[in-house]
Amino acid sequence: MTTQILTARMEAHPSDSHTIERYLDTGGYATLKKTVASSKREDIVEQVKASNIRGRGGAGFPMGMKWGFLAASDPKYLVVNADESEPGTFKDRQLLERDPHQLIEGIAIASFALGVNRAFVYIRGEYSKPARRLQRAVEEAHEAGYLGENIAGSGFSLDVTVHLGAGAYICGEETALLNSIEGRRGEPRLKPPFPAVEGLYARPTIVNNVESLSNVPWIVANGGEAYAAIGPERSAGTRMFSLSGHVKKPGNYEIVMGMSWRDLIYGIGGGIRDDNELKTWIPGGASSPWLIPEHLDTAITIDGVVEFGTMLGSGAVVVMDETTDVVAAAHSIVRFFAHESCGQCTPCREGTKWLQDILERIMAGNGRPEDVDLLLDVSDNISPGLVWPPAMTTICPLGPSATAPIISITKYFLDEVNAAIEGRQAAVV
Ligand SMILES: Cc1cc2nc3c(=O)[nH]c(=O)nc-3n(C[C@H](O)[C@H](O)[C@H](O)COP(=O)(O)O)c2cc1C
Ligand code: SF4
Repeated sequence: MTTQILTARMEAHPSDSHTIERYLDTGGYATLKKTVASSKREDIVEQVKASNIRGRGGAGFPMGMKWGFLAASDPKYLVVNADESEPGTFKDRQLLERDPHQLIEGIAIASFALGVNRAFVYIRGEYSKPARRLQRAVEEAHEAGYLGENIAGSGFSLDVTVHLGAGAYICGEETALLNSIEGRRGEPRLKPPFPAVEGLYARPTIVNNVESLSNVPWIVANGGEAYAAIGPERSAGTRMFSLSGHVKKPGNYEIVMGMSWRDLIYGIGGGIRDDNELKTWIPGGASSPWLIPEHLDTAITIDGVVEFGTMLGSGAVVVMDETTDVVAAAHSIVRFFAHESCGQCTPCREGTKWLQDILERIMAGNGRPEDVDLLLDVSDNISPGLVWPPAMTTICPLGPSATAPIISITKYFLDEVNAAIEGRQAAVV
């Protein structure tokens, strides 16, 4: 199905979809004007609830339900998570760079609905071009009267601050992000209290992902029910997938959920490079356990993949062909998490480094017979039971995420792991 909600403008107008002129010319800001002039705040929240949209940042939490949890006392804040540091994920970058006004309109409508007069966009420092485009778009929206005092003569006012991060993956975790905006170390907070009750500067705060908020203008313009009617019931709407790795046509694709993995990888992605065999793929960013060809004909839905012990996470699909050394691939991911651990929790701080060291000695040809058991034992100490979604011994899910590649290679490629430990080639199946 070819429904396009988020990418329609950038596809129709590739050269200038980021400008306010093009945005206005294609109907942009009309929904905001109508909303602030004649809608009740509660009705907008109800539309978002009715849309069944679930957050696109990773956890898939129902967006309308989260908005409903926002504590009533003022001031309260909206924080947009544009950190996008999950390896393999590059969809928010496109939304920021190619259609920043769509996001700003989403922020403004959401802020009106939530009773917020101050919003922040936390964008990763490495995203210099998207950050420049967004900053410029914020200025344009101010000049045109869609941000600032008394928006469109309605009495509603909103300021948006663009805040650059400094290159830490953990600052994408919502409470570490709030600490970072406050000028503290980017370390996750213990929850509860959740941000909706006590967030930025200890005030009630909603944190939403760029893609989640970019859907808001369409939802409010067309009605929550229209959005809910797109795709499967519990995975409503379209979703941006960042497809990368050994496919012929890598890129960002907006698809209606419910499509099969085969249609995504072989249809949209053009199949495997050099017509090689598909070996495995990461379905939802580095934090998610992998899938294998026997899952190709299953549907892409948020809950469907949980049945196979994984998640859609940030929508990053990384495809690996038959030439992939899975021990090296797992090592690359584990090393990333070990490096990015903030160090507060012992299982994460120590365990991720242990996993990295064990994989490194296997790759160096010094594997030991007990290494598979050791990898699983260390993983079990980080994430008891090795179930997915993970059981937590840590403050945030970063530690458990590091066990995803270990679970994957020992579940699906044990023969290859043992062969690496013994210093021989795995039997080709
Ligand atoms: C280690 C870690 C990194 C994360 N990085 C991001 C990120 O870069 N972008 C994002 O939107 N959410 C990220 N999240 C999820 C956020 O904590 C939060 O759930 C999300 O921003 C909520 O927005 P949503 O409800 O619209 O999905 C991360 C979570 C963890 C545990
Ligand atoms: S799990 Fe890791 S990254 Fe998360 S709070 Fe604990 S030490 Fe920090």
